[in-house]
Amino acid sequence: MNDIRADRILYSYTHNKPVIKHVSINIRSKGITALVGDNGSGKTTLGKLLAGILKPDSGQVWIDGLASQNMTLSDVGQRIGYLFQNPRKHIVATSVREQLLVAHELLEKDPKEGEANAQALLHLFQLEHKAQASPYTLSHGELKRLALASILFSKPDFLILDEPTAGLDHTRMIQLSNYLMKVHQKGIGMVLISHNWAFVKKHADRIVTLEEGKIVHDTQSEN
Ligand SMILES: Nc1ncnc2c1ncn2[C@@H]1O[C@H](COP(=O)(O)OP(=O)(O)OP(=O)(O)O)[C@@H](O)[C@H]1O
Ligand SMILES: [Mg+2]
Repeated sequence: MNDIRADRILYSYTHNKPVIKHVSINIRSKGITALVGDNGSGKTTLGKLLAGILKPDSGQVWIDGLASQNMTLSDVGQRIGYLFQNPRKHIVATSVREQLLVAHELLEKDPKEGEANAQALLHLFQLEHKAQASPYTLSHGELKRLALASILFSKPDFLILDEPTAGLDHTRMIQLSNYLMKVHQKGIGMVLISHNWAFVKKHADRIVTLEEGKIVHDTQSEN
């Protein structure tokens, strides 16, 4: 996977009220970039633009060398795992186990391999005892873990995680940290959108600060 590049992107939800204002940024595919800033500064919006979920009104986002405007969600999904701030947005199945297997089954891949992968992720995220439960009966922390597990199931090349530690207790946050370190050692880069400063300091090799839709600080430009 090549870098993700945004070139003077502008984005508005409502006409003439841009929330991302001519942002340019180059994100190295193997690095860990944190996106920080106050509530409403545009972190989630920029994350979705970098993930190809939203398309810029002007300017361009390049994902793995391709212009995001020309990419379908499936093109993007094969490269980038995107964690929504609200984990409920990930839920498409009626049980935890099915939630992990659904994409695999749609692609008609080897069921044994899918089962093994699902089992490993359920174990890792401590959801084995909930395998048959409806996702809608899970706590927020469990849902967040399930959402992460379902993204990691398809082994993406890059991760964009919006508030991954929200709703996790201290122990589970440490477990998530350890897991992300393992994932990173495999060469998977990520963008972490987070208000959790300790988590950001621990993982990020670069910190980008947004304010009112603009990048106002980037630790990379200090080097
Ligand atoms: N679906 C939407 N429709 C209209 N305006 C929106 C929508 N989503 C976000 N906004 C507005 O866009 C701006 C940026 O929002 P965004 O969610 O990207 O910020 P954020 O930095 O992720 O905030 P938070 O830290 O609260 O998650 C805010 O002014 C917000 O009110
Ligand atoms: Mg947000």
